[in-house]
Amino acid sequence: MRTKYKQWAVDYLTEHPEIVIQKINLDEDFYKGKKIYIEIGSGKGGFLISEASKHPDIVYIGIERVKTVAGIFAKKAQELGLINLKVAPLDVEVTFSSLPTNSIDELYLNFSDPWPKARHEKRRLTYKSKLDEYYRILKKGGLLKFKTDNDSLYEYSSKESMPNSKFKILLDEENYIFDAANDSMSEYEKKFRELGHHIHRIILEK
Ligand SMILES: C[S@@+](CC[C@H](N)C(=O)[O-])C[C@H]1O[C@@H](n2cnc3c(N)ncnc32)[C@H](O)[C@@H]1O
Repeated sequence: MRTKYKQWAVDYLTEHPEIVIQKINLDEDFYKGKKIYIEIGSGKGGFLISEASKHPDIVYIGIERVKTVAGIFAKKAQELGLINLKVAPLDVEVTFSSLPTNSIDELYLNFSDPWPKARHEKRRLTYKSKLDEYYRILKKGGLLKFKTDNDSLYEYSSKESMPNSKFKILLDEENYIFDAANDSMSEYEKKFRELGHHIHRIILEK
């Protein structure tokens, strides 16, 4: 589902440096002594906004490369007064390459683009080299939580890329029954559950 270009949302990104970041600089006071959780491909931010509201002591960062979508997310979070949330309107590869090893507590991949064609395998956010990078930046014991409704991305991730990574597979649920006490729904999860799709969930540990 493509979001139409919105100039106001793109402008919002440059006008609000208090919530929008161009680099994750862990030396800043904002991050000191805090757990840091990141959603990769956060879309309009429904999942992170809900999690950040429930856990004010944790710092949340949404990485979203489509500028209009990132701007919509940043505006919503700002209007809600969330001070433990930042939006990075960037590609994850650029953002993570500057992060130190063993620095992040949790990563989320919610309803990542499936890229079903074999020739696009490297673009999948669960491709092997991407998992290697997630492994590098996570702390020991850190978690990578993956949800999708897409059968082929689930099959590829659970049978091919994840078992061949350094991660330990803690949990693999073909039909995840939503756990409202410990989880939040993204925009895509809400939409797919309403359509009656099964949601698959995998949790990996470093
Ligand atoms: C299908 S949407 C899901 C959005 C949200 N996580 C949800 O569950 O509602 C996937 C999002 O990931 C973003 N995305 C895909 N690849 C990315 C990358 N390499 N870096 C940053 N964002 C990415 C897309 O722009 C898109 O907004």
